[in-house]
Amino acid sequence: MPTKRFTLSVKRHDPPSGEPPRFQEYELEVEEGVTVLEALLRIQAEQDGTLAFRYSCRGAVCGSCAMVANGEVSLACRTQLHGLGTDEITVEPLPHLEVVRDLVVDMDLFLEKNIEVRPWLDPPGPDPPRERLVDPSDWTEAEPYTNCILCASCHAVCPVTGRDPAYLGPAALAKHYRFLTDARDGAAEERLALVDSEVGVWGCDVVWNCSKICPKGVRPTQGILTTRERVKPKD
Ligand code: FES
Repeated sequence: MPTKRFTLSVKRHDPPSGEPPRFQEYELEVEEGVTVLEALLRIQAEQDGTLAFRYSCRGAVCGSCAMVANGEVSLACRTQLHGLGTDEITVEPLPHLEVVRDLVVDMDLFLEKNIEVRPWLDPPGPDPPRERLVDPSDWTEAEPYTNCILCASCHAVCPVTGRDPAYLGPAALAKHYRFLTDARDGAAEERLALVDSEVGVWGCDVVWNCSKICPKGVRPTQGILTTRERVKPKD
């Protein structure tokens, strides 16, 4: 299989050291089909064991490996080097989140927002003797929103999360919509009150960046706009 030589310029940063971030170059020869994640793993194994990045499934399922390759937010495990159209590739951590080290960002703020929207079912009435079944025809609105893998790509491209850390953000608001539209849930009024604010659905700039970037096809902006329609208009 033909190979090609790439230069990966990776942003390095160790905040506790007090040193400013810097780019470090690594050269490697790879065959077609090799992803950014595989390239980083090879660099870590063969050239620099100190390079830090996060991954788990290697198959676009766990959401751990989102980063920025040549200016575009993407999952490193599904971005092929040859597909980037150049042999000089910069790799950076997700913006809008604190860097822990190199390409590893602190996900606490992002995950806390997801907890704030009560991401669990609150069904009405007593528990049934067996599970609560959903008719497939009642599942079409919520189902696409269950595909979120919490990779934070949407958070990284949202202009509002970049300027207001209090904003719930597209992932949390998509999660909110997933439970708001679940036919088994009975807490719509409380759920709508949770996001009826400038840090909730009214804070969105409606630029659709989140919906365009989501690797799983979730459309947070659509959910936000539909939720706005269900919230009483502000005076
Ligand atoms: S390693 Fe799991 S999504 Fe990339």
